Amino acid sequence: MDIFHIEGPVTLAGTVTVNGSKNASLPIMAATILAPGKSTLRSVPHLSDISVCAELLKRLGCKLTRNTNGDVCIDSTTIDNPIGEYEIVRRMRAGICILGPLLARCHTAKVSLPGGCAIGVRPVDIHLRGLTELGAQIRMENGYIVAEAPNGLKGKEIFMGGTFGSTVLGTANILMAATLAKGKTVIESAACEPEIVDLANCLNKMGAKITGIGSPRLIVEGVDQLQPVEYQVIPDRIEAGTFMVAAAITAEELKIKNCRLPDMMAVVDKLRNIGVTVDAENNGCVVARTGSIGTADITTQPFPGFPTDLQAQLMALLALARGNSVIIEKVFPDRFMHVAELNRMAANLRKEGPAVIVAGVEKLIAAPVMASDLRASAALVLAALAAEGTTTINRVYHIDRGYEKIERRLNPLGAKITRQSV
Ligand code: EPU
Repeated sequence: MDIFHIEGPVTLAGTVTVNGSKNASLPIMAATILAPGKSTLRSVPHLSDISVCAELLKRLGCKLTRNTNGDVCIDSTTIDNPIGEYEIVRRMRAGICILGPLLARCHTAKVSLPGGCAIGVRPVDIHLRGLTELGAQIRMENGYIVAEAPNGLKGKEIFMGGTFGSTVLGTANILMAATLAKGKTVIESAACEPEIVDLANCLNKMGAKITGIGSPRLIVEGVDQLQPVEYQVIPDRIEAGTFMVAAAITAEELKIKNCRLPDMMAVVDKLRNIGVTVDAENNGCVVARTGSIGTADITTQPFPGFPTDLQAQLMALLALARGNSVIIEKVFPDRFMHVAELNRMAANLRKEGPAVIVAGVEKLIAAPVMASDLRASAALVLAALAAEGTTTINRVYHIDRGYEKIERRLNPLGAKITRQSV
């Protein structure tokens, strides 16, 4: 239960390097279930969600180590307990993406229903519908999903769209299951997020036959087996976006290395429109702001739309804009836990259903606030960098789930963040 004390306002300057993607690493770690043997994954970030995923895989029977150079080695030769326990899946919803690979490899799997979280109800009905289409028999037992396919899975045409668009982890689950299914699977309305592209590229390196990668129609020709892999995960576009907002909110110039702008065009476009310069440079970019912050209307959408995982951070920035902005959340309509906390820091935000009207204020003022979920907490850190006084953020473990020691990354740039262990 660590606490952050953040002194503001500060100006940040210097260079920061983006780590490997959390949301690409998690399904790729699960994909190693499909290929008995030793896989090596590079650039997997040191985050608590990654440790939870490692624990989940260990309980299945996998052996995991982290080399001195940071590589994660997963030996999935033996999987003798195809169960995703509640105790672990409740801590990290991404645990659900072991269901597809376990079913494909072991023909049986029992995984706890993840339940909701601070950002919403988060059902998994589309995951289950997809696996049922592939021939699995699925039933619920005491809060667990029990899936069986005694004769293996069979390829089929599957529609993965839902009320809120495609599903990222649902696509990951079905894609992984389909690699070892008999025959051809066509996934329509597949998620196109860069993390799904990375997973599909990794699966192909393991010997899968996936085409249409990056499009909403994925075609998978089932194969008999997959081989272990050495694979480097992509940089974290959400971490990169968070650093971009840090540069914008503190009105300075930051060099951000190891970031792929083509994966972030919706964000870059919004930042440019509100007066932030984002210039590509080598394998990253330079982000700077000199003038005041302009207003914007933002609607979150599946990729290539504006990512929900950067909605809270942009809200912190627009809280200081000259005028009114509107932010509409179309992926997780209840993902607004940060609104009340930002208002405690003198922001002027009004929630109206799945939208927030952001009336820009001249300055934010430090206050004690509570981190509620990962990205909401990042927004509070950003706001605190610009706010007058010392902000205290409680429940920092939410930030540690997705940002590796954020204070050690921002302090060398000029931030004044102290972590207090309580
Ligand atoms: N949905 C359903 N039924 C399903 C699955 C999803 O109705 O079976 C709904 C969800 O409730 C939501 C929408 O569909 O309204 C999209 O959810 P999605 O399934 O795409 O989310 P996810 O796969 O569970 C991943 C990321 C999230 C990110 C979302 C959207 C990981 C580990 N998680 O979640 O990341 O917000 O995609 O891009 O990849 C984060 O990193 O902070 C985070 C929450």
